[in-house]
Amino acid sequence: MNLQGKVALVTGGAVRLGRAIALGLAAAGARVAVHYHRSADAARETVAEARRLGAESAAFQADLSDLEEAAALARAVEGRFGRTDIIVHGASPFIRAALADTTPEIWRQVLGVLVDGFFVLARELAPGMVRRGEGAVVVILDRGTFDPWPAFLAHSVGKSALWALARNLAVELAPTVRVNGVVPGPVLAPPGYTEEDRARIAEGTLLGRWGDPQDVVDAVLFLLRADYITGEVLFVDGGERWAHRRRPEDG
Ligand SMILES: NC(=O)c1ccc[n+]([C@@H]2O[C@H](COP(=O)([O-])OP(=O)(O)OC[C@H]3O[C@@H](n4cnc5c(N)ncnc54)[C@H](OP(=O)(O)O)[C@@H]3O)[C@@H](O)[C@H]2O)c1
Repeated sequence: MNLQGKVALVTGGAVRLGRAIALGLAAAGARVAVHYHRSADAARETVAEARRLGAESAAFQADLSDLEEAAALARAVEGRFGRTDIIVHGASPFIRAALADTTPEIWRQVLGVLVDGFFVLARELAPGMVRRGEGAVVVILDRGTFDPWPAFLAHSVGKSALWALARNLAVELAPTVRVNGVVPGPVLAPPGYTEEDRARIAEGTLLGRWGDPQDVVDAVLFLLRADYITGEVLFVDGGERWAHRRRPEDG
């Protein structure tokens, strides 16, 4: 896919990794719809930066755990840009809660954003991609997608379900729309991380260090452009998923 002039919706695009992806798409020549939930000021700033990079860009507010708001978001983006060629689904509430602390509200909020919101966006926007003969989707996952992460129960289950949904869409929407996933490792520390936390996590990767948001941006752009890749997942995690094999007994 040639990204020049394509319309890309980036959910969670106002802050942090989502912002980096939105600006990466802008720099690559795409027109960028920056979705946000609470980060209105940051969304305005991201849109301004995308415009400085020469991209057409606008911000759109929605709580993606609300099906009506997700559908309204899709309509608003289509209304503003006339089409949507790309979805990058990065929005993802990051709530630490094991079973006992996972209230039904937390469960609904996390699964709502990760799965229901994405389902509605795909349902609203994929038909246009199919009609126009081209489309690409990337979902942002993490290691909880593949390995149980009981301290983040809803998050881990939600990411797994999101990847299941993405794979189903890769099959159903082929050959017109490609659907892939990116699994970032530690690239951007959550607020409150200490130097010790950072060092421990770096040690848990094969490469012994944190990555950079740009590493993830590069992977997303690669998968959007890669016309012969669909239903695939790309780890950008410094080998974090294999680091447990680096024990002395494994030689
Ligand atoms: N940071 C990392 O190193 C890392 C590692 C692995 C995977 N990831 C993945 O990368 C993505 C971005 O992570 P991050 O750490 O950069 O961001 P983050 O700080 O966890 O931000 C959460 C994002 O989700 C959005 N969001 C939360 N609740 C929402 C709701 N109800 N409706 C719609 N949007 C909602 C937020 O929007 P507002 O701010 O506008 O409210 C924000 O954009 C996530 O999918 C995460 O799982 C990140």
